[in-house]
Amino acid sequence: MSIALPEFTPAQESLFLTLGSRALDSRLPRPFLGDTMADDIIATIGYRLDKFPQLNTKLLDRRTTVFDVAVRAKIFDEMVRRFVLREPDAVVLDLGAGLDGRISRVNPPPSVDWYDIDFPEVVALRRKLLPQPANAHNVGADLTDTDWLHDIPTDRPAMIVADGLVLFLAQDDFVSLLNRLTAHFPGGELALNAYTTYAMWTFKHSRAMRAIAGGMANPGSNDPRQLEQWVDGLTLLDEILLTRAPEVAELPLTRRVASRLAARSAKLSRIMATVVLRYRF
Ligand SMILES: C[S@@+](CC[C@H](N)C(=O)[O-])C[C@H]1O[C@@H](n2cnc3c(N)ncnc32)[C@H](O)[C@@H]1O
Repeated sequence: MSIALPEFTPAQESLFLTLGSRALDSRLPRPFLGDTMADDIIATIGYRLDKFPQLNTKLLDRRTTVFDVAVRAKIFDEMVRRFVLREPDAVVLDLGAGLDGRISRVNPPPSVDWYDIDFPEVVALRRKLLPQPANAHNVGADLTDTDWLHDIPTDRPAMIVADGLVLFLAQDDFVSLLNRLTAHFPGGELALNAYTTYAMWTFKHSRAMRAIAGGMANPGSNDPRQLEQWVDGLTLLDEILLTRAPEVAELPLTRRVASRLAARSAKLSRIMATVVLRYRF
């Protein structure tokens, strides 16, 4: 079966790169994440993953292809799981949720209210394709607008995740969004994957990213502490370099050796692989 997709912008189309990576991961004999729902969604839509050459390449081993997206999703899931265990009355916000079914992977208690926010076109598709537990709320909005936050409770601790979002937000919009969020809630955590200026330059110029490069608006940042200066009350708790993730042991030899060498230097790790940042506010 396949369903008709609306005409997506490059930023919206990017959701298929992450969804596709998780789908391919789930087909591995020993997946990093094992999100079979991602693969079911790809099959239902009939989406052709060869729109993204890196998902289809014969040059890279499959584990190498999916590593960054699958392992960072696993890290975000674990951060959310720990937060809602500590704060069972929390709200979770997944910013730029795409077609990610994180709530099904995390399985929070029913006392947690979970908000998946993305553009209305994407949210319309989420409603058709993803399970809708009673405590899950889909919010169709441009995150750079101010109105959507009004419907979200102000008196509960918040776990905010931005998985694969930052590169599509201009720096001013990104910083304003974070200041609105930290002012809205009594406290909480923010987890995001960061992009260096080098990564942004490479993405914008690589053939692999051609389908989505037009949506990239963020210049990137080389200093995980920079956001502490720009966003009131934000304190960096963790910088997780994927070159140092235990899952590196499950990579094929070439990538494993390259990761282990890069892992010696935080600077090189930030350039070479994904970085997950966790802040408190
Ligand atoms: C790379 S995808 C990641 C999707 C999802 N987090 C995942 O891991 O599969 C980026 C997502 O951010 C969304 N996005 C980008 N800019 C946005 C904005 N200004 N407002 C709402 N969503 C946005 C896109 O529509 C897209 O779904």
